[in-house]
Amino acid sequence: MNYDVIKHVRGESLFLDDYDAPAGTLHAVVLDSPFAHAEIVKMNFDKALNINGVKGVFTAEDIPGENQIGNIIQDETLLAEKIVEYVGEPIAIIVADTPEAAREARNAAEIEFRQLPAVTDAREAYEKGLLIAPPVTFSSGNTEDAFAHCETIAEGRVDIGGQEHLYLETQGALAIPGESGTMKIYSSTQSPTAVQRVSAKILGVEMNKIEVDVLRLGGAFGGKEDQGTPWAAMAALAAYNLRKPVKLVLNRAEDMRMTGKRHPYSADYKIGLNSEGEILAYEVTYYQNSGACADLSPAILERTLFHTTGSYFIPNVKATGYMCKTNLPPNTAFRGFGGPQGMFVIESAIYKAAEKLGVRAHEIQKKNLLKEGDYFYYGQKAERVNAEKTWTEAEKEFDFEKKFNEIKEFNARNTLLKKGAAIMPLTFGISFTSSFLNQASALVHVYTDGSVAVSTAAVEMGQGVNEKIRSVAAKTFSISKDKIRTETTNTTRVANTSPTAASTGADLNGNATILACKEILSRLKKHAAKILSIENAESIEIIDEKVYVNGEPTEITWEKLVNSAYFERVNLSAHAFYATPDLHFDRNVNKGKPFAYHVYGTAIIVATIDVLRGTYEIDEVDIVHDFGKSINPIIDIGQTEGAVVQGIGWLTIEELVQNEEGKLLSNSLSTYKIPDLYSAPKNINVKFLEESENPFGPLQSKAIGEPPFMYGIAAYFAILDAIREVTAYTPTNLIAPLTHERVLTALTESENKRYESE
Ligand code: MOS
Repeated sequence: MNYDVIKHVRGESLFLDDYDAPAGTLHAVVLDSPFAHAEIVKMNFDKALNINGVKGVFTAEDIPGENQIGNIIQDETLLAEKIVEYVGEPIAIIVADTPEAAREARNAAEIEFRQLPAVTDAREAYEKGLLIAPPVTFSSGNTEDAFAHCETIAEGRVDIGGQEHLYLETQGALAIPGESGTMKIYSSTQSPTAVQRVSAKILGVEMNKIEVDVLRLGGAFGGKEDQGTPWAAMAALAAYNLRKPVKLVLNRAEDMRMTGKRHPYSADYKIGLNSEGEILAYEVTYYQNSGACADLSPAILERTLFHTTGSYFIPNVKATGYMCKTNLPPNTAFRGFGGPQGMFVIESAIYKAAEKLGVRAHEIQKKNLLKEGDYFYYGQKAERVNAEKTWTEAEKEFDFEKKFNEIKEFNARNTLLKKGAAIMPLTFGISFTSSFLNQASALVHVYTDGSVAVSTAAVEMGQGVNEKIRSVAAKTFSISKDKIRTETTNTTRVANTSPTAASTGADLNGNATILACKEILSRLKKHAAKILSIENAESIEIIDEKVYVNGEPTEITWEKLVNSAYFERVNLSAHAFYATPDLHFDRNVNKGKPFAYHVYGTAIIVATIDVLRGTYEIDEVDIVHDFGKSINPIIDIGQTEGAVVQGIGWLTIEELVQNEEGKLLSNSLSTYKIPDLYSAPKNINVKFLEESENPFGPLQSKAIGEPPFMYGIAAYFAILDAIREVTAYTPTNLIAPLTHERVLTALTESENKRYESE
């Protein structure tokens, strides 16, 4: 079990807003833009400053350092200067004794704007030449030649909605000024070092003056990879100016309004197959709705390009992506990081090709699955491929044929309810595609009573990374997990932390932990050899907290050994560094080996639609997933179930709606629907692929955070499959999410078509 779980259930776990802030802590709120695009003509805070309890208002002019928070591209201010580019863009920070007083003061601020024309649609931005960065193309083979040899060609357009992260804990930070211009920042972030770096830049101080500490996050899902940073920098800015601790925690409405989401994409595709049903060629153009600033968009677009061919081998591919600059909050990392959008488009293309050929999509899917030794179109050789293995095992375990037959019988018997099914094969690359980020450190202390404390760069956000780190430390020392504590993530203890992201948290930090533990272990073995007067330290082992010599137990326990090592002045601490070996990617040609390995799996989803109402239910999700050798099966099942439900939500009921002025209308939980107990699948069966190994994961495990999200894609096509039971008509262009309203529209449109033809 995850040792945080008991605390969560009892309500004992601390989140940022629960910390006992020092006496005299002030509260900050963010004053943000009501317009999607406007010039700031005049700002007057006289009335705001007169409100009881208000301590200060800070704008871009009060930033002692550089007003720049851009990560990949330096194109984003912390506080707007002259122009605002989205509704929710921070303009000023208002600080008061209480959050209520600060919010009251915010209402009293007088800001004069001159509105400018806004663009919210990616294709419109593209037409106007509004791009965040130059387009990127990945390709292999020759699509033009290949299309000439294709028997079947399908083309179409796909529009995919964004997604609100809806982490339970909203964004926030607490900044406490110390002596000599130092600052300690408690932050709800996946990227402690980014908070440190950006806060230092904003304050104009060196990074060694800023200490960032993270206990745990109440969820993040990518939403706190880059976008946990500004709130911390704002709290630090206010704390710096007022010389008082300042807390800034967004409420839900502010969080939904001000933060970026999963990127909506629009795409045009063309897919070509030969008479055998083999995919020979695939061309796709992606229009990524990046929002107003780059944020992580270039990296996210790249991951879309990496996952353009999904779980399939396609010899001729050309994929181009445009990062379209719109007047929306900068869209950002979200579980899968652009991969899901790429995979949804290839699945849409296959669906359309199948429709054209009059076959089931899964026949094409199965025929084109990636095989051992195939090359990904970005140049990496596919090794230890489990694409077909998970498919075949799922087919057997969950009896696809029986399922399809039962659905057929059900549909023959029922007119008001129809069932559909779809299969989703998964191949997901593990590693940050910015190769330099694939590094981590661990600092391990063994105390004189034999207890152990581990600090790493990993941020616990509910995914159980701390529990996995405890497991690998316990295994390496061969001591009880109860002796091991994971500490907060802290930039003073572990420096230069890569974000806990890209599913790599347990891999990178687990591997670093193993290295640090091994170093201490080897010192302890040497010490044991010495006190036992044995020449060869190699003959010493520690098994279950006891010292063994050549397989024979001794009287020396872990505690005794550690204690005696201390008195002999043996170093009981170690710091270790891990970097994933052998990664490279050449951006001049977009070829290389960006991933340490891939995660594989296959899911089948069955859905039932109500033909009169357009409503639907997800009956069943069956998954065979490649976990490698799981460190913690319960955590991994939890991650799989959570991810697949989140993936289903993205493509079914979660709909972001903005009006033409770029104002978010689905700005609360009454208008933005995520899967709840009633709409979640009735059944999720997760089977572990047997005999999977992974030399790159700690203890042969595989990363789990993001990959299962993409099984949710099958829900979309299962619902579409059910719609096709009612009508021979499906729209040429696919639109996600497939909300109940869209299903009803599809059903009635087909009705209309039928009348028209009669
Ligand atoms: Mo994650 S979407 O890589 O923060």
